[in-house]
Amino acid sequence: MTKNLKNTTSTILGISGSPVENSNTDLLVKTIMEATGANQEFVKLSNIKVAPCMACKKCVYTNQCVQDDDFKWLSQKVLNADGLVIGSPVMYGNASAFTKAFVERLWSLRHVKLLTQGKVGATAVVGWSWTDDVSKWLNYIMMIGGMEVVGNVIGHGSPGCFTCGPGENCNHSVWNTTKKLELMMGRQFGMEKIYEGYMKELPDNNPMTNPSYKILKCISVKDQLEVMEKALDIGKAIGAKLKVDIKL
Ligand SMILES: Cc1cc2nc3c(=O)[nH]c(=O)nc-3n(C[C@H](O)[C@H](O)[C@H](O)COP(=O)(O)O)c2cc1C
Repeated sequence: MTKNLKNTTSTILGISGSPVENSNTDLLVKTIMEATGANQEFVKLSNIKVAPCMACKKCVYTNQCVQDDDFKWLSQKVLNADGLVIGSPVMYGNASAFTKAFVERLWSLRHVKLLTQGKVGATAVVGWSWTDDVSKWLNYIMMIGGMEVVGNVIGHGSPGCFTCGPGENCNHSVWNTTKKLELMMGRQFGMEKIYEGYMKELPDNNPMTNPSYKILKCISVKDQLEVMEKALDIGKAIGAKLKVDIKL
């Protein structure tokens, strides 16, 4: 967790649901946060313990979750922040489990009093498939928390199944499995469309070969200029909403 104190009373809290060290998701969340010019706190969910909601409903009238884990202090940080940036990689077509558990626990702040109402927010999602769905879902979560979503950014990271090592030799990679299913079921799942962006960059138009593996391993949001610019713009827009004197 990092905290920078600046000459403003506004605080922005960044939450990353990526377990990867210095990940693409972390970078997008931090880029947005830094561009706000507000005081910043960054929390990586994989470094702390936030369990899923147990649906005990004991928080209904107290707005306090009774589970004894790091959400105790994290919920205070959410409440104290003027803005919230939530980032997640796509995993199995969804937000990461770290992100999902955190979002479930936000339920305790919602009912009856809607304690997160009026905060400004933004979301960052990294992946290739299902990115729009995860992004829309995260935006929706913020909105039902009464927050204003100032912007959302989607970036591309290194796709796990193409960069894990075995690559084309793994019969059960998402690419090879889907290709087999397409043959068996006689229908197309549109893999070429989903991965269109980097298929064009590959020497052989096939993610499952060794040269492709090397190229795919290098994919970083840092090199996606439009994505980085969008993250900066969202941060600046949040800063303007919070009336922070931005000096970048
Ligand atoms: C278990 C697992 C499941 C994944 N599932 C998906 C997926 O469904 N769609 C996708 O686009 N990427 C998927 N990925 C790839 C990650 O989203 C991708 O590596 C992303 O760049 C990670 O972002 P990060 O660098 O911020 O962690 C998966 C990765 C892992 C480890």
